[in-house]
Amino acid sequence: QTQQTDDYYLFKIVLIGDSAVGKSNLLARFARDEFHPNSKSTIGVEFQTQKMTINGKEVKAQIWDTAGQERFRAVTSAYYRGAVGALLVYDISRRLTFDSVGRWLSELHTHSDMNVVTILVGNKSDLKEAREVTTAEGRALAEAQELFFIETSALDSSNVNAAFQKVVKEIY
Ligand code: GTP
Ligand code: MG
Repeated sequence: QTQQTDDYYLFKIVLIGDSAVGKSNLLARFARDEFHPNSKSTIGVEFQTQKMTINGKEVKAQIWDTAGQERFRAVTSAYYRGAVGALLVYDISRRLTFDSVGRWLSELHTHSDMNVVTILVGNKSDLKEAREVTTAEGRALAEAQELFFIETSALDSSNVNAAFQKVVKEIY
C-alpha cells in the first residue's frame, strides 16, 4: 500500500535476518552515514524515515528494524503489516545465517503480501578472508526464490545505498 502524505509517497520497508548480520548498521549507514563497530542487539522495534529521490520524484522510505533473536523481537504481525518492501540480510562470513534465509522467507510470506519487493542482501562483503558464502551461491538462491540480490558492506559503505534504492525503485 502507498499512503500519500503531503507531496510524498511513503513506503514501509522491513529489515529481516538472523541476529548480528548487520541489519541495524545497514540502516544506520543508509539513514545517517554512521557505523557502530560494537553495536548491541536491537530490542523491540526501531524505525527511520528517509527521503529518497526515485526517477526525479521525492519519496519517503519508512524502514523498520527489529531483532533477529526471537526473544528480543517486536510483535511479528505488527512488524510486517503494510510492508511493501523487505531486505532479507545474511552475513557472508557466517554460513548459518545464509541457511536461515528460507525460514525468514516463509515468515515474510506468512505475514505479508506475496508480492512484497524483496532483496536478498549478503552483508559484510569487506570480510574477504572470512567469507563462507560465495557470491554465486547468494545469487543462485536469489534467482531460485525470485528475489533481487546484492552484496553490501555497512562498514565500508559499499552498495548500501544501492540496496535500499533498488527496493524502493521496484516498489515505485
Ligand atoms: P540484531 O539486532 O541482534 O538482530 O543484529 P543486527 O542484524 O542488527 O546486527 P548489527 O547491525 O547490530 O551488527 C552486528 C555486528 O556486526 C556489529 O558488531 C557490527 O559492527 C558488525 N557489522 C555490521 N555490518 C558490518 C559490515 O558490513 N562489516 C563488518 N565487518 N561488520 C559489520
Ligand atoms: Mg539490530
